[in-house]
Amino acid sequence: MWNYLKTNEWGVKFRRQHPIALYVADFYCHKLKLVIEIDGGIHDEEDVKKNDQRRENDLKDFGLTIIRFKNEEVIKNLENVLSTIQKKLMLSQNPPLGAGGITVSSPATVANVVCGFDILGFALNGPSDELTIHISDEPGVHIINQDDFDLPTIAEKNVSGAALLALLEEATDVKGFTLYSKKHIKPGSGIGSSAASAAGSVVAANHLLGNRFSKEDLVRFAMFGEKVASGVKHADNIAPCIYGGVTLIRAIHPLDIVSIDAPPLHVTVVHPQIEVRTADARQILKQQVLLKDAIKQWGNIAGLVAGLIKGDYELIGRSLEDVIIEPIRSILIPGFDEVKKNCKEAGALGGGISGSGPSIFMLSKDEVTAKAIEEAMSAVYNKIGVAYQTHVTTINMEGVKVVNAPIP
Ligand code: HSE
Repeated sequence: MWNYLKTNEWGVKFRRQHPIALYVADFYCHKLKLVIEIDGGIHDEEDVKKNDQRRENDLKDFGLTIIRFKNEEVIKNLENVLSTIQKKLMLSQNPPLGAGGITVSSPATVANVVCGFDILGFALNGPSDELTIHISDEPGVHIINQDDFDLPTIAEKNVSGAALLALLEEATDVKGFTLYSKKHIKPGSGIGSSAASAAGSVVAANHLLGNRFSKEDLVRFAMFGEKVASGVKHADNIAPCIYGGVTLIRAIHPLDIVSIDAPPLHVTVVHPQIEVRTADARQILKQQVLLKDAIKQWGNIAGLVAGLIKGDYELIGRSLEDVIIEPIRSILIPGFDEVKKNCKEAGALGGGISGSGPSIFMLSKDEVTAKAIEEAMSAVYNKIGVAYQTHVTTINMEGVKVVNAPIP
């Protein structure tokens, strides 16, 4: 059997006799979190069976899937054994939509929008994550990651898992979900990676449950995911991710979300390839602000909201100023001041740190300017020698979108 598995014929790598906590798995595939056990005759004995069960439960707690075969099955019918494993692999890689799953595309978001720390955000037309979910008869949330980010698969420690567990608390007729997550938004990039996972998962689950929950409920569930990611239940990525467009979170307790109209806007984002953890970027903030700074900030938030609603680009540009958070956080972002200055010169209305960084975003009126801004950003990072990625996009008005619904 090893002779076959080690060939990587199925495009996934297996390891033999791989240690996992206290145990040694016969064969293990990390990408699929799959353990294959081959049992000898001794495994039919009662106390060995009990031990196997305990071991299996422990491994499942790590988010692993276990398939067992008997020794004689492998010896007498290797073909059958390999085909069972292959079926399991195919299931992990291509979720069976016909069997009642749903796939959504969940967008990246820009939180804070410079002056509106924790209260303003908008969704982007790219990048986005792809999430497929199935209702399961097994209790809890089983997570299968289909990307290389190595995110936790234990539900309580995973942002999607935590959000879905919160939803399950209020959907008592459902036992559990299986989630296949394919992320394209890099965790720690500052464009709402955790929110895309959490929000996308609960929106998808809600579709499978006949849309019984309101958007506000879904924001509430998804905020449990943000708690896992950053220690704080902020909604300024989640609300725009679910509602689309620009959203104002007037209050979190109780939730009060207001969609804000906006004129057509182009968004250019640069992601210098360093990771800033939201928890750390919050830790360094001061707990008190000066009244004069607060007054400036109120003016800017009100100006920005008014500018968006009136479609007044000049007012939007003037209001994209942050005198409280940016002076502290920008220190974590190489080239920040130069990027900002050069982008303004290239015609940006304004912009600043996206969420908690390190991404920086700029708004503009047209695509030509948005591309010129991309060049200005690239020039800075090429000069200082920091790897980066850029996105030139627009505001996404739809939020999480179903891309593949179950076949009725
Ligand atoms: N408002 C949050 C923060 C957004 O700035 O910490 C994190 O993406």
